[in-house]
Amino acid sequence: MIPTGHQTPAGAQSGAPTARGDRPVLELDNVTLDLGGRTILRDTSFVVNQGEFIGVLGPNGAGKTTLMRAVLGLVPAVGGAIRVLGQTVERGNASIGYMPQTRSALAGRRVRGRDLVAMAADGHRWGLPHADAKTRTDVDRVLELVGGTTLSKRPLSELSGGERQRLLLAQCLLGNPKLLLLDEPLISLDPHHQKSVVELVRRVQQELGIAVLFSAHELNPLLNSIDRVLYLGSGVAALGTVDEVITRPVLSRLYGSPIDVMRVNGRIFVMSGGVEVEKHDHDHEHDEDGGHTHSHSHSHSHPDPHDSRDGHTHDV
Ligand SMILES: Nc1ncnc2c1ncn2[C@@H]1O[C@H](COP(=O)(O)OP(=O)(O)OP(=O)(O)O)[C@@H](O)[C@H]1O
Ligand SMILES: [Mg+2]
Repeated sequence: MIPTGHQTPAGAQSGAPTARGDRPVLELDNVTLDLGGRTILRDTSFVVNQGEFIGVLGPNGAGKTTLMRAVLGLVPAVGGAIRVLGQTVERGNASIGYMPQTRSALAGRRVRGRDLVAMAADGHRWGLPHADAKTRTDVDRVLELVGGTTLSKRPLSELSGGERQRLLLAQCLLGNPKLLLLDEPLISLDPHHQKSVVELVRRVQQELGIAVLFSAHELNPLLNSIDRVLYLGSGVAALGTVDEVITRPVLSRLYGSPIDVMRVNGRIFVMSGGVEVEKHDHDHEHDEDGGHTHSHSHSHSHPDPHDSRDGHTHDV
């Protein structure tokens, strides 16, 4: 199942549909991505099919954001080919919905939630100065889909981080994309809100039958929802089920150092030398304008994975 280089796993060969009759939404064919003179991804091939929810994991700098930007046609592949719905990638592909990792400061805005969604429809999809009937219908549709109709009447400054994420997800669904690229939607959310965002994305993804790449620093909030995991590290990628990918040999190769995988009460901890690597990498991004901040601070030098940090005191 390890799709690095030419070792493509069963069910993930590029090109033809698999035995299950899945239809490829995203195909990488021996793709190499370089940024700033460094190779971020090397000779990588995998296929994501319609209706798949893929968790994208990997340490800081592994290339999760770069991969999404490459799928959007914003980072050119220096080798190989990336196809979305069979077409070579290009900028402005309407079949892709994208939630960037760096989101503009929204917390202090008095703008209504609905206007935030509508602005995206006007600005990015149709280039219209004011919402026309078609735009309004689409905005209504996506707000309904995410259960955001009522909260969209309130100003962003009065919404919780999880509620704002709901509206940002609605934005991504404008124009009926077939592939969603959600870059770190859980950052700055507490475990309870993380759970509701993951469940919301799962519900919408299944309802629409679309494919989702959902990047995160921690696997556990995604465990019950994802179909497969795409793990990036050391310029290579592994795509497969959690049981196939989250193993000592696969992750040791991706991290370039010995990794232990611990399973405790249905949760999985990826450890390096006694330190939980996913948590260790995790860094909450604060809202830039301070309008809505979360309350916990994380130590990045704590040696004990079973400490009191949020991931260990809440079931997600
Ligand atoms: N514009 C750029 N020019 C040069 N190098 C870049 C650029 N953007 C990112 N990089 C580098 O590319 C590598 C991959 O970055 P990327 O943002 O894709 O990682 P990531 O997996 O999304 O990390 P994080 O978990 O921190 O979001 C990093 O080493 C980063 O420093
Ligand atoms: Mg990133």
